[in-house]
Amino acid sequence: MNFTRRQIIKAGAVIAAAGLPRPLLAQGPLNMTTIPSSGQQIPGIGIGCRNYRGQADAPEMSVFRETFATFHRLGGKVVDTSPNYGNSETVIGGIMADLGIRDELWLATKVDREARESGIARMERSFELLGGDSFELMQVHNLRGVEIQLQTMQEWKQQGRFRYIGVTTSSDRQYERFAEVMLRHELDFIQLDYSLGNRNAAQKLMPLAQDKGIAVLVNLPFGRGRLFNAVGGRPLPDWAADIDAKSWAQVFLKYVMSHPSAAIPIPGTTKPHHAEDNIAAARGRLPDARLRQEMENFIDPLLA
Ligand SMILES: NC(=O)c1ccc[n+]([C@@H]2O[C@H](COP(=O)([O-])OP(=O)(O)OC[C@H]3O[C@@H](n4cnc5c(N)ncnc54)[C@H](OP(=O)(O)O)[C@@H]3O)[C@@H](O)[C@H]2O)c1
Repeated sequence: MNFTRRQIIKAGAVIAAAGLPRPLLAQGPLNMTTIPSSGQQIPGIGIGCRNYRGQADAPEMSVFRETFATFHRLGGKVVDTSPNYGNSETVIGGIMADLGIRDELWLATKVDREARESGIARMERSFELLGGDSFELMQVHNLRGVEIQLQTMQEWKQQGRFRYIGVTTSSDRQYERFAEVMLRHELDFIQLDYSLGNRNAAQKLMPLAQDKGIAVLVNLPFGRGRLFNAVGGRPLPDWAADIDAKSWAQVFLKYVMSHPSAAIPIPGTTKPHHAEDNIAAARGRLPDARLRQEMENFIDPLLA
């Protein structure tokens, strides 16, 4: 049976009034982020697929599949991968085909070659492995061959093979060059490392993205797990309730989402319960500037 949005909201209100637990549907849609270059709205959280790799018959494949299915079922769309992540594109392509959800997702992958011809071969291979005639986003991985690859990517964007183009980094050693590329080219997206414990990108790159109307995918939102180690078994501070955060992961993701640029975290997630936890960060309130400062004051001594 299908429900209209109005029916779902109404049912949620009745259930809430009766003091009963709200079913998933009644939690409402995910918070959306607007892509400045097009006005398209996409969910404010994605999934990173760096660790989706292994043999087809490996036991973890069914866990990856279930994680992806959970992410999709709960409204997730934005998927980030790369030909650089082992056989991630093969694994993701297989899961999407299996679940029949390829066309419902917002797919981002990357190119990581110096030369024009090898870049073209790499991108054609991504189409073969991930399926479909177009991707939402193609990115130059870690600025590799950036000037040459962006030429091809611009052409393919004109042809409708990519809706958006961008560049990535995850190291502040590349930030100066990264800023130059942002100034020199018309980019729809950048992707960079930023988290409550790693705020260097907020000094120059994220404000520049805001000025230029470039959306930001945020990799390493947990610092590859470093933030979880920093907080250890500590209970959530009282202020977590003010932003509707029910886990440390949600605290860390909401910090990223609340940056005034169009910042969308893409946490690496290979467990269904992590996907569920992370998607929930895209619901409810976000910290304001004062609380963001309090969060920074909280984490800094734990990371020192
Ligand atoms: N230069 C680049 O272009 C670049 C560089 C790095 C990363 N990336 C992209 O960014 C994505 C994210 O980076 P990352 O995966 O390296 O680091 P990350 O997102 O900072 O951390 C991933 C780690 O957090 C764990 N985790 C996820 N959700 C959790 C939760 N709710 N509670 C507790 N632990 C949780 C994951 O465990 P499980 O796997 O067990 O769920 C994994 O160990 C990558 O997958 C990739 O798509 C791009």
